Amino acid sequence: MLNINNPSLLSFLVSSEDDGIAVTNPAIGEVLGYVPIQTEQAIEQCIEQASIGQKRWAAMAAKERSGLLRCWFELIMENKEDLARLMTLEQGKPLAEAQGEVVYGASFVEWFAEEAKRTNGETIPAIAGNKRLMTIKQPVGVACAITPWNFPIAMITRKAAPALAAGCSFIVKPAELTPLCAFAVAELAYQAGIPRDVLQVVLGQDAPTVGSIFTSHPLIRKLSFTGSTQVGRILMEKSAHDIKRTSMELGGNAPFIVFDDANIEAAVQGALASKFRNAGQTCVCANRFYVHSSIYDQFVTKFDAAVQQLNVGNGLEDGVQVGPVISLQAKQNIQALTERAIEQGANPVSSWQPLDGLFVAPVVLKDVTHQMDIVSQEIFGPVAPVIAFDSDEELIEMANDTIYGLASYFYSQNIHRVWKIAEALEYGMVGINEGIISTEVAPFGGVKQSGIGREGGKQGIDEYLDIKYLCFGGS
Ligand code: SIN
Repeated sequence: MLNINNPSLLSFLVSSEDDGIAVTNPAIGEVLGYVPIQTEQAIEQCIEQASIGQKRWAAMAAKERSGLLRCWFELIMENKEDLARLMTLEQGKPLAEAQGEVVYGASFVEWFAEEAKRTNGETIPAIAGNKRLMTIKQPVGVACAITPWNFPIAMITRKAAPALAAGCSFIVKPAELTPLCAFAVAELAYQAGIPRDVLQVVLGQDAPTVGSIFTSHPLIRKLSFTGSTQVGRILMEKSAHDIKRTSMELGGNAPFIVFDDANIEAAVQGALASKFRNAGQTCVCANRFYVHSSIYDQFVTKFDAAVQQLNVGNGLEDGVQVGPVISLQAKQNIQALTERAIEQGANPVSSWQPLDGLFVAPVVLKDVTHQMDIVSQEIFGPVAPVIAFDSDEELIEMANDTIYGLASYFYSQNIHRVWKIAEALEYGMVGINEGIISTEVAPFGGVKQSGIGREGGKQGIDEYLDIKYLCFGGS
């Protein structure tokens, strides 16, 4: 049931499937409501309006834009409980995690409200005495984004806030599975005073149609995408025709490494946090565990004991730590990968029972080898395969043996090893003695086929700015 304290957040809902698409609660399969979809012509009109709105928005003083973003941040925080409830209802993550995501999502708005005032250019010493050289930064124009279902608010604000701070207008197509949070958070932006043509949420007949419009419309200058490497590749290819700027936050295959000199208790806690956040459905979730053979049995036993304590269920219920996965297809993929690993010789440390509905029981797999399919593919579920290793050299080879390069983690208390391994891992992000690395103040992003560009940090706003070089002659 969509009962929340502030009904204005749901003013976008339409009455039936004839007018929009149904949004379903993955925990119980109940239809929560219907959200509007737009025709191709209507989406093109949104882009034209965004282009007009962007010019007014960019002409505004940065301090004024900053103030509106600050107000948006405050409204998100004031409506935290409602937004978290909506998120749990449509996405499934436990309520405490949803509350955490609302705060995480809001933190990008707060951070970029501040960065809006710091899009400084620079002066450059000229090589000829009569010239003066400088750079200024200007918004790229109309920016658009396609965002995933696993973080229904944070993946939007992490893109929208820097775009708006830079002076761009912004159109987002949220995931069809989790649009309630997207429309609700946009509603709060309008209540904060951000113009409706500067921030828009659109849904079309299907995702490829909207993707084609975004990548081909001449007024769109920038596309930011979070999702699979496969879809990111298609969007990049399509964007190439008009040489549109793109930021891509794509798939991952994060290694989580425990050396023989690690604090094992800390490593178990880090492993739990990194693997089971959002039921294992994040791009930065640990996907494969490498544990030194001398501590393998000890780690596996302690890790499994902690995993057996995890409470699986409807995210609205007290004490639940692992909610449902997002869809039947997701559940089938996770089960197929796990069953294949078992066929190939892996063993669940404790018995692994099938659960009803969209729930998947968390499991630790031992006797896993680096060659198994589960090691090379993104699991996106609560399954933790653990592989033994003997030397640092062998470990680095296995850890880097992937097309992906988003997040990686390792636990060691040896400072020499810490530097060596941190430098050797071919990843955009490395958690050292830490399982949760995401924050608005640091640059999030990958290398190799995990993507291009950075979100958050002081780098995040540059994705929405062009640098213009000015050369003053005859001075
Ligand atoms: C993601 O799964 O792509 C986002 C995870 C995060 O921001 O921590």
